[in-house]
Amino acid sequence: MTAIKLDLQNISPFISGSALADCQEKVTRIHQSMEKGEGAGSEFLGWLHLPSNTPDSLLVDVNREAERLRGLAEVVVCIGIGGSYLGARAALTFCSHTFGNQLSRYKRGGPEMYFAGHNISSDYLTDLLELIGTRSFALIVISKSGTTTEPALAFRVLKQHLENRHGIEGARERIVVTTDSSKGALKELADGEGYPAFVIPDDVGGRFSVLTPVGLLPIAVSGIPIVELMAGARDMEKITTATADFLGNPAYGYAAIRHVLYQQGKTLEVMSGFHPALEYILEWWKQLAGESEGKEGKGIFPASVLFTTDLHSLGQWVQDGQRNLFETFMTLEKSNRELTVPTSSSDGDGLSYLAGKSLDFINEKAYKGTVEAHLEGGVPNLTLQLKDRSPRTLGAMFYFFQRAVAMSGYLLGVNPFDQPGVELYKRNMFRLLNKPGYGKE
Ligand code: PA5
Repeated sequence: MTAIKLDLQNISPFISGSALADCQEKVTRIHQSMEKGEGAGSEFLGWLHLPSNTPDSLLVDVNREAERLRGLAEVVVCIGIGGSYLGARAALTFCSHTFGNQLSRYKRGGPEMYFAGHNISSDYLTDLLELIGTRSFALIVISKSGTTTEPALAFRVLKQHLENRHGIEGARERIVVTTDSSKGALKELADGEGYPAFVIPDDVGGRFSVLTPVGLLPIAVSGIPIVELMAGARDMEKITTATADFLGNPAYGYAAIRHVLYQQGKTLEVMSGFHPALEYILEWWKQLAGESEGKEGKGIFPASVLFTTDLHSLGQWVQDGQRNLFETFMTLEKSNRELTVPTSSSDGDGLSYLAGKSLDFINEKAYKGTVEAHLEGGVPNLTLQLKDRSPRTLGAMFYFFQRAVAMSGYLLGVNPFDQPGVELYKRNMFRLLNKPGYGKE
C-alpha cells in the first residue's frame, strides 16, 4: 500500500461528476501557476519543492546537532508556537512510544522531550521547571519572526534556569536556535551569544516549515530518522508534482472534494482520527488549514475529534447536530504493536466473543460502524488511510496536507500563506500591557 490511501466511496452520492470536472479545470490551472512560482503569496512557495531541494548535507548537520544535544542533556525543551511547534509535536506523538517521557532513558534511547512557549501560563512553566529540577537540560528555540511573545517569554524564563543550572558558558552550548537568516530579536541574540543556529528559509512560512530545521531538529533529537521522514515527503512531492489529475494526485482529489462540499454549504470539516497517535497530527492539520484558509469571510472551519474517545462526546454532535459538516476519517492500517483480548474462564464482562481478537480489529469495526452511522446521519465522509506509524508515512502525510491546503486556499481565492487575522489580538494585548508604541490602556 502507498503511504496514504484515499477512500471516496461515501462521497460520491453527495458530489456530482460535473462539479468535480469543473473543479478539475481550476485545479489544473492553479497547479500550473504554483509550479511556475506564480499566484498570491508566491514568495512563500519554498515548501513546494523543499523535500527534493533539501541537500543531504543539511540533514547531516541537523543529525549532528541532534546527537550533540542528546549526549549532553537528560531533558530537551523545545520552545515555539503555531507552525514553529506543532509539526515536531505531531511527529513525536505519531512515531514515538505513547508514554516515552515516562520510560527509562535506556528504553527511550534519548532525552525526555517537552514543549514550551505555546501558551502564557505561570502554572505550565513553573511545573516544567519543577519537572526539570536539577537535571541537565537543553533548549531548542524556534521562531521565524524571532519576536513572538509566547516563545520569547518561555525562553527568558528557561534560559535563566539553564544559566543557574549550567552557568553562562554551559548554557551557551545548550541552546540551539532556529530562526530567520538575517532579522528578528532571536537572530540578534543568537549572533550576540554565539548560539548554534539553523535557518528557516525566507520563502517558507511557519505552518509549512515542518520539513525545515524547525521540525527536523527536535524530531531528530527524539531519535526519529529524519532521512526517512524526508524520503516520504519526497515520494509525495513526486506524486503530487507529476500530475494535477485527481486520479493520480490524492492531495488535489482531497482538496477538490472539500471545495465542492464547501460550495454546497458544508462549511465545517471534522477530521476524525481513529488512533491516539494521531492526536497532534490533527492539531497540526487544524493549524495548517485554519490559518491558511480562514480569511476574507471564507474558509472551511477545521475541527477534529479523536475516536473512539470522542464518540462518547462530540460524536453526538456529528451524528445529530446541524448538518453543515463533512467528515474526513483518518485511520492507521497498521499499529506498532498488537494486543489481543485474553480468554477468560468466566464471561462476566460479556467479552468472550472477542477473545483472541486484536484491539485494532475491534477498533476497525468501530470505525466502520461509525462511517455507516454518520453517513446515515447525512454526513458525507471520506477516509485518509495511513499505512503505518513510520517516519516515511509521516513525511508523505506532512507533504500531502501542505499541497492539499495550498490548493484549497487558492480554490477559495485567498492567499494561503498569510495570516493577517492573528495580528489584532497581539495589538490589543500589547496596548493592554502598555507596551511602548502601542498606546496607553
Ligand atoms: O504559520 C504561521 O506562520 C504561524 O503559526 C507561526 O508559525 C507562529 O505564529 C509562530 O511564529 P514565529 O515562528 O514567528 O514565532
